[in-house]
Amino acid sequence: MNYDLVIKGGTVVSSRGETRADVAIRGEQIAAMGFDLEGTETIDATGKLIFPGALDVHTHFQLPFCGTVSADDFLSGSQAAAVGGVTTFIDFAIQAKPASVMEAVAARRAEADPKVCVDYGLHAGITEWNQNRRAEIPEIIRAGLPTFKMFMIYRSQGWQSNDGDLYAALRETSKHGGMVGVHAENNDLIESLQSEAVREQLTGCYVHALTRPTVTESEAIARAIRLADAADGRLYIFHMSTGEATDAVEEAILRGIDVHAETGPHYLLLDDELFKREDGHHYATCPPIRKPADQERLWEGLADGAIEVLATDTCTFNSEQKAMWQGDFRKIPFGMPGIELLVPLTYTHGVRGGRFPLSRMIELLCENPAKLFGLWPRKGSLRVGSDADICIFDPELSVTISYKDLVTHCDYSPFEGIAVTGWPVTTLLRGAVIVRDRRFVGRPGQGTFLAREPVGQAR
Ligand code: URP
Ligand code: ZN
Repeated sequence: MNYDLVIKGGTVVSSRGETRADVAIRGEQIAAMGFDLEGTETIDATGKLIFPGALDVHTHFQLPFCGTVSADDFLSGSQAAAVGGVTTFIDFAIQAKPASVMEAVAARRAEADPKVCVDYGLHAGITEWNQNRRAEIPEIIRAGLPTFKMFMIYRSQGWQSNDGDLYAALRETSKHGGMVGVHAENNDLIESLQSEAVREQLTGCYVHALTRPTVTESEAIARAIRLADAADGRLYIFHMSTGEATDAVEEAILRGIDVHAETGPHYLLLDDELFKREDGHHYATCPPIRKPADQERLWEGLADGAIEVLATDTCTFNSEQKAMWQGDFRKIPFGMPGIELLVPLTYTHGVRGGRFPLSRMIELLCENPAKLFGLWPRKGSLRVGSDADICIFDPELSVTISYKDLVTHCDYSPFEGIAVTGWPVTTLLRGAVIVRDRRFVGRPGQGTFLAREPVGQAR
């Protein structure tokens, strides 16, 4: 049988392990796996790893935030995804209250659809819980957004939800097969510590970390878990940064609570000493980067199952935007770039670093996010019938990270100078080669909006 394209000679990787096989594609899907498959076109993958394109389920492209708009738009952000071996991202449609969430979805799709170079979905950001929102939940889920984000923080941004709202949303969304993700930080405690710091005339960027001690996250996560349990809801923890919270999530999982957690490469590889540098404000994100002991526990959590997803929280602000802080830590645009480096950093520091096997990397970057976010087995899998979203990865290619070589729209990289071994060389999106020899060869609009399935049974 002749296929459209056969990737020959590589090692196919899944959560079940590694195997030598050809991968055959017909149209947009994986059509066969085996030996001596023939295609109209072939790609030689000798010496390379072949795995599903990664999913980054946490990005904020062209987000109006902190008085500016994040510098990676849907074009540069999704190109950065493609060259980094990421073929699906999930961004956010955040409700601009009092307008509805569905209005935010329409606006976000109008921004994204003409630009995206890989496939994408949207989480529904709820900033105002009331009877209209409750009534809107089934429609939002039917539109392909079964996952929500609520902010336990960002009062001044007008995004914060209180505990009652969170409880009600956990209850309501789970009735319709949805899940609520939280940005979990204790807003009152942070604001109080910030006022105290400012009274003492402490405003440098290290104060960003000082006024967000670990308890500000771990308390909020413990609270969200209690609420999810009481509401019989499904809970996802975005960007978890602390060891204490990892312990709390692990304990909750053991108690049978439906909670799932994500962390990101910046929490694993960067620590709060960086705030003492002159460019320390480049590293400010919420929650903040922490201490080596937290990093250790997060790595353990990734290996032992407490943390199920690695995602980047890409929210790029260039140095001009970051300079808006003018010496006051409260004015730093919070966020940093990351999507382009998700796969190479995970491979080098996770797999080569001996933290977890390659099969676990595929769970963390491909299979778990697809399963948790209503995209399995279409995405995150190389089984027959799945979308032919493929990363061909050179495990021996050594690169020293420099922002100058990256596609992302940023004039620095938080990971500048870090040496990695292992880099994506070719990326396919639904059977089409969009990155060849590390260069983007796709086109804007080639990606498509993914209407995702409910993430569980109605209950
Ligand atoms: O500081 C961050 N993380 N910026 C992006 C918005 C968010 O909270 O996820
Ligand atoms: Zn957040």
